[in-house]
Amino acid sequence: MGWMSWNFFAEKVNEKDLEEMADAMVASGMAKAGYNHIFIDDGWQGGRDNKNKIIADPVKFPSGIKALAKYMHDRGLKLGIYSDAAQLTCAGYTASLGFEEQDAKTFASWDVDYLKYDYCGAPPDSNTAKLRYKTMADALRKSRRDIAFGICEWGERQPWHWAAQAGGQLWRTTGDVRDKWKRKSAEKWGEGIMDILDVNAELHSYAGPGHWNDPDMLVVGLYGKKGPSGDGGGTGCTDTEYQSQFSLWAMMSAPLYATNDLRNMNEATKNILLNEEVIAIDQDALGKQAERKIKNDVWNVFVKSLANGDYAVAILNRSDAAQNFAIDFKELGLDGKYEVRDLWQHKDLGKSKSWKGDVQSHETKIFRLMKVK
Ligand code: GAL
Repeated sequence: MGWMSWNFFAEKVNEKDLEEMADAMVASGMAKAGYNHIFIDDGWQGGRDNKNKIIADPVKFPSGIKALAKYMHDRGLKLGIYSDAAQLTCAGYTASLGFEEQDAKTFASWDVDYLKYDYCGAPPDSNTAKLRYKTMADALRKSRRDIAFGICEWGERQPWHWAAQAGGQLWRTTGDVRDKWKRKSAEKWGEGIMDILDVNAELHSYAGPGHWNDPDMLVVGLYGKKGPSGDGGGTGCTDTEYQSQFSLWAMMSAPLYATNDLRNMNEATKNILLNEEVIAIDQDALGKQAERKIKNDVWNVFVKSLANGDYAVAILNRSDAAQNFAIDFKELGLDGKYEVRDLWQHKDLGKSKSWKGDVQSHETKIFRLMKVK
């Protein structure tokens, strides 16, 4: 969990803004709720020195990355960094191909805790991808610092089949999320929350402790901000839609990394990002990704098994109108009676074998079901 720089700052990332985001993460209560990483994305690099050591842009990062890592660690946070398995990154900055061991050593010497490793500029075949990711994973291990490794080749080579073996702890399953609900048929590109859901939801069997599907960043609270998330038709979502993304990502045991301006959050955004009952579903120790048990144009219903024997059930209304929904939990494979708790209303609904009620357009309800003995 954490906050990633790309959707908000893109290439204009710098140490002052990252420190402010870290401070806001602590002050807002997000750090206490579990958001404990600041991830620097593309644009931090300033080339290589005369010994080929990768360096940070001295204007954007005058104190250097090691000092920034200390700033995070002093506040109980971790620092993520970004590179790419080619000569240049997606935005055209210095990347790590051919310098894997040296760069891994450098990141370790800066006390970095996480590496997102992108795939722009690299050849399309799977064998090269596996090899390039494994080379960097091995280099990280050799650095002797515990650096988590995030694989980012957008799901194009089905990384769920090989990324864990190559040394990744998580892998992106799709292209970049845009700040929108769903791609319109006339739009050539730009994946919305629903487009990403429909890929990632099918991959539930591949996720588990230490090897996770990554359906990309949260767009919660961006409200159509200009920048990467605003491209490809990303004109913004409603709070109901943001609440749905958060709920669905939690059901899918996705990494939760916000990208909005943590220094200026309205109440709706805070309510979503700080819902600790929903965060507990995401972070549940069993590490199971929800299964989509019902899937049609209007309704998607997900069930996630939890470590203490409870179940999380999410009901999404994909249609453009509010609808009434009724379900016997038995239809989801859940026999018997349950204490039902609504995790958005923070309210116990009593003992039941079923649920019925209204679900707004694009709303996702989440219930926690505790079996009645
Ligand atoms: C993309 C990646 C984005 C972001 C961007 C930076 O390939 O999917 O999440 O990292 O590169 O240039």
